[in-house]
Amino acid sequence: MLGDQRYLFDVPRDVAYLNCAFFGPRLVAVTDAGRDAIDRTAKPWVISPADFFEPVEHLRSNVGALLGDDGEGVAIVPSISYGVAVAAANLAVGDGRSVVLLHEQFPSNVYPWRAKVAREGGAIVTVNRSADGWTAAILDAINERTRVVVVPHCHWTDGSVVDLVEVGRAARAVGAALVVDASQSFGAMPLDIKEIKPDFVASVGYKWQLGYYGLAYLWAADRHRSGQPLEEGWITRHEAEDFAGLVEYTDEYEPGARRFDMGERSNFIGVAMAVAATDQIREWGIGEIAETLREVTGRVADGAAQLGWEAAPENQRSPHLIGVRRMGGLPVGLAEALIAANVSVSIRGDSVRIAPHLHTTREDVDRLLTVLDAFS
Ligand SMILES: Cc1ncc(COP(=O)(O)O)c(C=O)c1O
Repeated sequence: MLGDQRYLFDVPRDVAYLNCAFFGPRLVAVTDAGRDAIDRTAKPWVISPADFFEPVEHLRSNVGALLGDDGEGVAIVPSISYGVAVAAANLAVGDGRSVVLLHEQFPSNVYPWRAKVAREGGAIVTVNRSADGWTAAILDAINERTRVVVVPHCHWTDGSVVDLVEVGRAARAVGAALVVDASQSFGAMPLDIKEIKPDFVASVGYKWQLGYYGLAYLWAADRHRSGQPLEEGWITRHEAEDFAGLVEYTDEYEPGARRFDMGERSNFIGVAMAVAATDQIREWGIGEIAETLREVTGRVADGAAQLGWEAAPENQRSPHLIGVRRMGGLPVGLAEALIAANVSVSIRGDSVRIAPHLHTTREDVDRLLTVLDAFS
């Protein structure tokens, strides 16, 4: 377990920021890296061709390492909607076939599949959570018609988990692909792609990843790395670092998943911030982050339970993200009371979503519980 890390974050003591699932808290080192990058880009005469490539490669290898891999499978994309669009463009569905996804899944991992089946045929199968959680219900829904299973590692509304190893195994057994939106877990919940064997994994960079809004990550399995990118930019091409030779046009891409990088992916400010964030996450270790946050969410769940609020059973809960609900729905005035008490959480559906990070203190949790108590 990691000790007090609050000094590394730029979060004032009087704010109980429990909203990492909305936007990650800011590390001081990330702000510093962004400021340095702004200063550097103000002097374009000091920018060299290497600056377009080396920081991105650092980021790629950090993201790969955090997934238990090297950086070769990692592409830098702007968003989940873009990453999922790459996956959808490189997977087949078609008439009589289906895409399996979850009830109330995040829209950026729903709309691309709805558009694909509308265009190319096929159906969407939406899985409802069973009393045993998501995994059993997903396994039930996968059959010989399934072509793609698109799921998160934990549900964005309340952190309820999906066992990706089991789901991956079931998908492979029927020849279906697995696409994972890890935005609400990557950086705070270990995800081992060697064990899960997904086709594509996408994650934003600004939540549990503590980086920059506008830079997201897409990991592609080896078998897809010769696939179709969404864009045909110059920087993904072989020997792009030779700026004098850019009009020696080539059909050859850079190796690995680099062909899927978005245009202007060298984003000097965002990449510098994302590198600082992922350096720090690597230093902490995702396993250690998860175990430390499990203790915090456990305290929230126990405290809330005493006040009559319910969370998912412990075996269906993720370590870092928890939703609490109350019989009869959310009380009127709760959202306003939380704001008035400087407690930042999100309301998603009928659930109060609580998302701490390593800056969270006991006082933060107590402040949240005091507000819940007033509505119990
Ligand atoms: C699970 C999940 N996926 C994706 C996103 C963001 O999607 P996009 O990058 O397309 O804006 C969010 C934002 O809250 C999310 O919770």
